[in-house]
Amino acid sequence: MTTDFRQQLLQGLPKQLPPKRKPSENVSHAPKRKDILSDDEKKLAVRNALRYFPEKWHRELASDFASELNEFGRIYMYRFMPDYEMYARPIDAYPAKSRHAAAIMLMIQNNLDPRVAQHPEELITYGGNGSVFQNWAQYLLTMQYLATLTDKQTLHVYSGHPMGLFPSSKQAPRVVVTNGMMVPNYSKPDDWERYNALGVTQYGQMTAGSYMYIGPQGIVHGTTITLMNAFRKTLKRGERAAGKIFLSAGLGGMSGAQPKAGNITGCISVCAEVNADAARKRHNQGWVDLLTGSYEELVAIIRKAQQNDEVVSIAYIGNVVELWERFYEDSIFVHVGSDQTSLHNPFAGGYYPIGLNYGEANEMMRKDPTLFKTKVQKSLRRHAAAINRHATRGTYFFDYGNAFLLECARAGAKVMAKNGSDFRYPSYVQDILGPMCFDFGFGPFRWVCTSGSPGDLAITDEIAIRVLKEIKATAPEEIHQQMEDNIKWIKEAGQNNLVVGSQARILYSDAEGRIKLAAAFNKAVATGEISAPVVIGRDHHDVSGTDSPYRETSNIYDGSSFTADMAVQNVIGDSFRGATWVSVHNGGGVGWGEVINGGFGMLLDGSKSAEKQLQSMLFYDVNNGIARRSWARNPNARFAIEREMKRSPNLKVTMPNIVDDQIVDGLF
Ligand SMILES: NC(=O)c1ccc[n+]([C@@H]2O[C@H](COP(=O)([O-])OP(=O)(O)OC[C@H]3O[C@@H](n4cnc5c(N)ncnc54)[C@H](O)[C@@H]3O)[C@@H](O)[C@H]2O)c1
Repeated sequence: MTTDFRQQLLQGLPKQLPPKRKPSENVSHAPKRKDILSDDEKKLAVRNALRYFPEKWHRELASDFASELNEFGRIYMYRFMPDYEMYARPIDAYPAKSRHAAAIMLMIQNNLDPRVAQHPEELITYGGNGSVFQNWAQYLLTMQYLATLTDKQTLHVYSGHPMGLFPSSKQAPRVVVTNGMMVPNYSKPDDWERYNALGVTQYGQMTAGSYMYIGPQGIVHGTTITLMNAFRKTLKRGERAAGKIFLSAGLGGMSGAQPKAGNITGCISVCAEVNADAARKRHNQGWVDLLTGSYEELVAIIRKAQQNDEVVSIAYIGNVVELWERFYEDSIFVHVGSDQTSLHNPFAGGYYPIGLNYGEANEMMRKDPTLFKTKVQKSLRRHAAAINRHATRGTYFFDYGNAFLLECARAGAKVMAKNGSDFRYPSYVQDILGPMCFDFGFGPFRWVCTSGSPGDLAITDEIAIRVLKEIKATAPEEIHQQMEDNIKWIKEAGQNNLVVGSQARILYSDAEGRIKLAAAFNKAVATGEISAPVVIGRDHHDVSGTDSPYRETSNIYDGSSFTADMAVQNVIGDSFRGATWVSVHNGGGVGWGEVINGGFGMLLDGSKSAEKQLQSMLFYDVNNGIARRSWARNPNARFAIEREMKRSPNLKVTMPNIVDDQIVDGLF
């Protein structure tokens, strides 16, 4: 492949068969997947993969793909990896007939940038298995389609596979993405293994398969809000977080945000990470202050920091279970504890059990998955038992939405409350994010400056500070704390060096905030204050984007947390109100079959139509979820939607009547 970047994108699949290629040695790779297919199914997987290529290549590719399937459990088509550098280029570098399509190409390349992506050569952005595409042929074809797509066509992408360009209209989304949508009975973890190995579905996580990942920054803000409020729950009046310990695990795609959030919160954060490469990557990127593989050194650092009330973040290369156990024996008090191992994917590389080193665990999960599962479950029982001992001393432990408590319970660990149906520890949504943020409409709004210029990002930060201050001046008392936290966040965002990859920013905002921010950015693009269009979007983990009974909707108590109408309505509703692209996924965050989640991206190009679309779409995108939360009788959501109805005469939401407990208590 000698042609230049633009030509290569336009070309799609190469004209000449590229030579066979092994995965590179200098990047992190996805764990080898379970050998789950029968011989007949393996033939089907190879037949499926060959659909992308001309017949004359089939013989050679068939044996190549068969060996990838045998060796890695998947067909990634390594030989089709492009040889240009993978990163988000400025929007004008992309060959495109539609600026909207060019913006999507930029976002896709960011998700695959080796500085950003967890396993870039397996097209995995984060979370161990959060894929952008299943294989490199899908990537090449999608980029080719986007390079030729007009503003009267829509590209429909099925779990990474570009089904094709269909005629639509200017107002329609340019891309519609579905990931892992299964007929409901076929949504068990092994169904993902089987159908992903066959090449017919993928796990898109949240922002991986929806092209909206902005590096660990995306999660830093949410983690900071959660951690600050977790400390607020435990500290006495006037006490500060300085010198107090936050203990957790994981320095991967999203968990890598924990030390940064710890620093912003102002505590001592200790994050254990079994994968030395992942820990070093976060350390080299400046996301964690200190790195050690020695328990003794770790304790010495902690003791010194405690004496001096220092704020410091420490990465410990090792298993977190060891830390929970040894900290208890050594009487090291943990103020706040959590966990961010990838327990949404417990038996295929998301959780590393104590007693096996990293290499041994990777080997066993493929060669003897049954034994590996036993080891994981045993480790989870030990893990939870150690946390329980700390809790008796007063540690505040919360589940951070990685299915930790769910998998502990499934493993038989003692994590259930006395009533036998609830967990003994809260999820962060039940205690913190649900009532304090989602019910009011605050969620992870984000934007990307498509010029790639840090100067543009700095201007958007300034605009955001101004907009938030204006809103705060008339905001009701109920949301003052949120507004203050957000203003502090955005003021410090530039100094905190949060950018990895595209020039992006996250800022928790409610409907009013998102609309006013987006309108101000659109205007700044129109006047030339910002040099190129801005993409707006959000994490699926939001007010309306996600139905997930143990996470985003865990503070919904009317029984509807097991339904997924809200997330599906949201994607459909956004799609005809002006989103540039929409996505709906199975499994993001907590695992395949456990959640339905969706999102959008929108290009603000400074036009009048962008102004109209942002108003209509963002209004629905947030208020849909508030209406549902209000119908579930959540008091803060009732407050928020009533306030919105007063402001917006066209909004009419069905409100719940609240029944007196005495009337129902004696009925059955
Ligand atoms: N609620 C939220 O907003 C939120 C935010 C971030 C992450 N999460 C969840 O947290 C999990 C982690 O996300 P991620 O993107 O960082 O995943 P990841 O797979 O990139 O990182 C997890 C890391 O944990 C490490 N690990 C696994 N077992 C370990 C053990 N026993 N001891 C020490 N380290 C261990 C792995 O090596 C890996 O690097 C996911 O389940 C995700 O859904 C939730």
